[in-house]
Amino acid sequence: MARQEADIHSESVPAPGAPAASNMVELNGHLYDPSGKIFVANDASEHHRCRLQHQILKDCLNGNLMATKLPPDVAMIVDVGTGIGQWAAEVAQQYPKAQVIGMDISKVQDTPVPDNVSFEIHDVEDPWNCEPNSVDFVHIRDVTGGIHDWLALVRQAYKSLKPGGQLEMTETRAKFFDFDGTFGETGTFFVEFENIYLELASKTGMDWDPVPSSPDWLNEAGFEKIVQRSEIMPIGSWPKDAKLKKKAMDFTNMWNDGGWETKTARLFTTCGWEFSDFRSLLDRVKKETADSGVKAYATVVFTTARKPKR
Ligand SMILES: C[S@@+](CC[C@H](N)C(=O)[O-])C[C@H]1O[C@@H](n2cnc3c(N)ncnc32)[C@H](O)[C@@H]1O
Repeated sequence: MARQEADIHSESVPAPGAPAASNMVELNGHLYDPSGKIFVANDASEHHRCRLQHQILKDCLNGNLMATKLPPDVAMIVDVGTGIGQWAAEVAQQYPKAQVIGMDISKVQDTPVPDNVSFEIHDVEDPWNCEPNSVDFVHIRDVTGGIHDWLALVRQAYKSLKPGGQLEMTETRAKFFDFDGTFGETGTFFVEFENIYLELASKTGMDWDPVPSSPDWLNEAGFEKIVQRSEIMPIGSWPKDAKLKKKAMDFTNMWNDGGWETKTARLFTTCGWEFSDFRSLLDRVKKETADSGVKAYATVVFTTARKPKR
């Protein structure tokens, strides 16, 4: 990291509820971290998406904050890429005796938090400040677009965890699926979007769909008991079942209500797309979410693992 950037990111965080950092860079109507290494926006519109997603993911986990079963005496939790800090705040409430550290490169934490939460403005790809073998649980959620070396990240997590400590990674796959083969017959804007997205993503040298490789990275880092749990997230209005219909509505709204743009605009424009062409592509994708004949779904994958006890 350049010296100037290190200086920017070594500051302490503002009081909860304080306005977001003023040093963000504006691009096509969105704010981004000034380091330039994070492709996802970090502004009011992205924070709105994160709040919706937080609830959607809890719904997937029957109201729980994680798929991992934590022991009641958990003492140290690290939330990697904590964002506005909502997960950190809730986990700290649930485990009032634990210390919770929320790490993020951007100073955007605006959630009121209990006393047992602290935030560190820190690039999570730089060495962490915590002692080796000191952490009980590392939580990494929705940081794709900001991680250049996933294996190094899970190695860092492994080093920081106590023997027997646990890790969870949660990401939405960069892939659309369909229930009844309609994609194959007609071709869809979902597929067009996915193909372009993955082609552009490959030019960044970053892995934008880390789920398939995560078990190998975790294994290489030394983790055991690696388990992936995949949740179907329907897109559009096609599900008939009431529970699935609600899930589809929440998930689709999250993307259509600004999510496609905050997550992917910078990738497209960095790779040479005109913003107006990107918008037109998104309009076609959004229109397709209203077509009940296209039975698309994405998946959210919870990957859990443990550092061996000895
Ligand atoms: C999409 S938000 C998700 C926030 C939170 N994990 C959640 O699930 O609600 C991603 C956050 O990860 C942070 N992030 C991404 N890459 C990072 C990196 N290399 N170092 C520190 N923070 C990073 C971003 O700044 C952003 O606040």
